[in-house]
Amino acid sequence: MEIKDFITKIPKAELHLHIEGSFEPQLMFEIAKRNGVDIPYQSVDELKQAYEFDCLQDFLDIYYQGANVLLHEVDFYDLTKAYLDRVILDNVKHVEIMFDPQTHTERGVSFDVVINGIKRACSEFEQNHGMTSILIMSFLRHLSEESAFATLKSSLPYKHWIKAVGLDSSEKGNPPSKFQRVFEAAVSEGYIPLAHAGEEGPPEYIWEAIDLLKIHRIDHGNRCLEDDKLVDEIIKRDLALTVCPLSNTALQVVKNMKDHPIKMMLQKGLKATINSDDPAYFGGYMNDNFNAIAQALPLTKDDVYTLVHNSFAYSLLDEETKADYLNKLADFNEKF
Ligand code: HPA
Ligand code: ZN
Repeated sequence: MEIKDFITKIPKAELHLHIEGSFEPQLMFEIAKRNGVDIPYQSVDELKQAYEFDCLQDFLDIYYQGANVLLHEVDFYDLTKAYLDRVILDNVKHVEIMFDPQTHTERGVSFDVVINGIKRACSEFEQNHGMTSILIMSFLRHLSEESAFATLKSSLPYKHWIKAVGLDSSEKGNPPSKFQRVFEAAVSEGYIPLAHAGEEGPPEYIWEAIDLLKIHRIDHGNRCLEDDKLVDEIIKRDLALTVCPLSNTALQVVKNMKDHPIKMMLQKGLKATINSDDPAYFGGYMNDNFNAIAQALPLTKDDVYTLVHNSFAYSLLDEETKADYLNKLADFNEKF
């Protein structure tokens, strides 16, 4: 079977997805109109033309601007539903969705509006399609420790809906150590610690994320490859990497897909997974990410299987549900 066909059909899990990054221009214009909010672009095409990024910050500026039109619970519901509707077509069975409360609370939108909208869509998909989802609350690292603490406090009434905390936004100049205390507090509340590290930031930031924040999984982590001792440590601690190929080329973390190190990561024994990060901005959802990297390197069917297996195995699901997905995955693989 063609690798493309295998990619299309294999059941998948997505572990690194910012719900605000799945905001398609079409929906953005629709919500802007109904909310009476101005977008500084005349059309979907004009907006899309602004999606040319030299670095993470270029992207973040546009990403936060896009999120400005989200005001009401139904907006967050529509945003999440649109993402789930889209990835179900890619045979995605389980998603771990990051959301950035501060992107909204800083604009006066309350925490409960954000989480109620997202959760309602997730619950519907679980009921109607059996798609499982887990929510990860991410702190914006360009904001203060105090703001992160306030966000943590706002989340407590919704603790039963949120499995983990993450750390995202502008990495350079905002090391994990800035959030050591807030992560300690989050862990004592029962949240699992995760963080973006080594996307643009140096290997030292990955060391901090694993030693100080004690993260259970590394978002991106590409730059670990610059430090052999760090690679050994990540393998020893059995931490997976949530790699995002189209994000990496869009933000120039990797110059050319042909040079993407995912195959090398697997060869070294790192538990890499494939994810879309911000699919509306970076040119594709899960299958687009798999296809782009599988064509460019190329990847074998076994590589794709390993990557997908890692996603389920290193998900935050309970052991029983995880085993169920892994059994289904093995069944699929045997049949093809
Ligand atoms: N990196 C850091 N912060 C982010 C990203 C990313 O790729 N996407 C949304 N917030
Ligand atoms: Zn990300």
